[in-house]
Amino acid sequence: MRLIWLLSMLGLSLCAAEVVQVGDKFKDSGKCKACHSHIVKQWDNSWHAKSHYDNDEYLRKTIDYVARKDNRKSLNTIKIECAACHNPRISVTSTSAEYEAIAALKLDKDSAATKAINNTGISEGINCVVCHNIDQIHDNLPDSKRGINRVSWMPSGVMTGPYSDAKSPYHKVEQRDFMDTNPNQLCFVCHANDTSEEGHRFSDMQSEFKSGGKQCVDCHMSPREEGIAATLRDVNGQPHKRLIREHGFKGGHVESMWQGALNLDVRKSARGLEVTLGNPQPHALPSGFGSREILIEAQYMKGAKVVKNETVSLTSHYLSKRKKPTIAHLAEKTVESVSIPAQGSKTFTVPLSAGADQVVVIVSYRLVNDEVRGLLDLKDPIWSKKMVIKKVNLKL
Ligand code: HEC
Ligand code: HEC
Ligand code: HEC
Ligand code: HEC
Ligand code: HEC
Repeated sequence: MRLIWLLSMLGLSLCAAEVVQVGDKFKDSGKCKACHSHIVKQWDNSWHAKSHYDNDEYLRKTIDYVARKDNRKSLNTIKIECAACHNPRISVTSTSAEYEAIAALKLDKDSAATKAINNTGISEGINCVVCHNIDQIHDNLPDSKRGINRVSWMPSGVMTGPYSDAKSPYHKVEQRDFMDTNPNQLCFVCHANDTSEEGHRFSDMQSEFKSGGKQCVDCHMSPREEGIAATLRDVNGQPHKRLIREHGFKGGHVESMWQGALNLDVRKSARGLEVTLGNPQPHALPSGFGSREILIEAQYMKGAKVVKNETVSLTSHYLSKRKKPTIAHLAEKTVESVSIPAQGSKTFTVPLSAGADQVVVIVSYRLVNDEVRGLLDLKDPIWSKKMVIKKVNLKL
């Protein structure tokens, strides 16, 4: 029994958060441009590329807020915790009590932690050498181990990809199933088990996922299409035709992705206006990061005049240890969570307005609900923008 325990502890510590430095030749996406310029361009527009304290207002203000409210941990310690998924090529993966003492006195300027956080190697967020330098994904580890704590890296300069017959003069290549037949495994390294400082799991795309045949990459990259993986020509001067996917990783931040993402049915009944939202996608909506929101707005009209507006908000709300409204990352518990389950539907009843002869129902999505936008003082209009999913007119 003890031997098994000892072996499993050894196994865990061997697999956990091993840091492998990325050589300068491969560190940033600029180094891949010469031969993969189309891919670099697509990725550069994605939110994977913005996943860094300096490049995403929401991430930055959340990290600052957590550090302000949690007086056991310094700002740098929180940055390192979040880096596990947001910046997994960071060279320091945890801090000690000694470090906290030094940081509290602001004497940590020359520490390994400060240097790791300021290293430009992580400023590109989730870049090429996050996904393509992974050697193995350890799904035998506990669910709580995510991001950098769930993978082991290839030596610098070996790129893992979908092809077993690729040759590149710039880097070595190796085929991996998580780049080919089982890409969900790669996405779930990070898109699963988001947990607060209080140990509350506030979202988990993996447990709610109902495949139905499609993988994350089919919808958030693209279906496999004919194209080229590299612009470098072969010995006969020909481009090498391949089946490829787009690297846009388009999701919640991209307005065009929301058009038609849910089905909408509106009918009048004795109880009121019955609005049914159907979700054909394989995960709940809203989902992913906490405090995302879907809005149902009913605009009652008499002739051309608006006589009444009703709004229903589908979102999550969280309470802190002190029982105050807070952000997901400080939540002790979720007090309310309304979303449409994967491949399911929900009906909401909206009060009718006497005298109205028509209603316009608009269903839209917002990246951050009012409560959290207020708590964090988010300024960029993108966080409050309503992205329209569907609109229906009904004569009453
Ligand atoms: C000098 C040109 C060149 C540069 C620079 C280059 N590559 Fe490549 N890469 C290639 C070629 C050629 C292939 C093979 C394409 C084929 O077989 O269709 C390739 C293939 C790949 C593959 C697929 C491997 C497989 O087995 O499926 C990945 C992933 C990849 N490169 C990533 C990168 C990354 C990341 C960088 C930047 C750090 C980079 N490459 C820089 C030329 C280059
Ligand atoms: C190393 C961790 C990691 C891996 C692996 C990963 N992601 Fe992400 N992903 C993130 C993080 C962190 C964000 C949020 C970035 C931000 O908004 O600052 C994100 C954001 C996204 C978004 C939202 C983009 C938007 O516009 O709202 C999509 C879609 C997405 N990822 C798809 C995928 C898919 C598909 C895979 C698997 C091929 C994958 N991710 C693998 C960490 C990861
Ligand atoms: C979030 C993870 C992720 C990131 C970041 C990422 N890739 Fe990929 N990449 C994939 C996956 C998954 C595939 C396999 C697609 C498939 O099923 O064929 C892939 C495929 C490729 C291929 C093979 C051709 C193709 O398009 O399918 C090349 C080359 C490549 N990536 C280069 C890059 C480069 C260069 C970057 C940085 C600009 C990059 N990738 C960033 C996940 C990622
Ligand atoms: C059948 C297509 C499909 C598949 C497969 C799929 N998604 Fe989505 N996903 C969508 C649509 C549609 C939306 C809503 C519009 C948008 O945000 O892209 C969405 C939204 C999201 C969002 C934003 C959610 C929110 O409420 O803010 C994330 C993150 C995401 N998907 C990640 C994933 C991951 C990770 C996987 C694989 C486990 C996956 N998706 C599989 C279609 C799909
Ligand atoms: C388990 C991996 C993981 C860890 C650890 C993690 N995140 Fe994330 N985070 C994600 C993923 C995946 C997304 C994208 C989900 C989506 O778009 O719905 C994300 C999205 C976010 C977003 C939304 C960004 C945007 O542009 O909309 C914020 C804010 C955020 N995380 C803050 C944090 C903070 C603060 C920490 C550390 C206290 C942290 N995260 C730790 C995986 C992680």
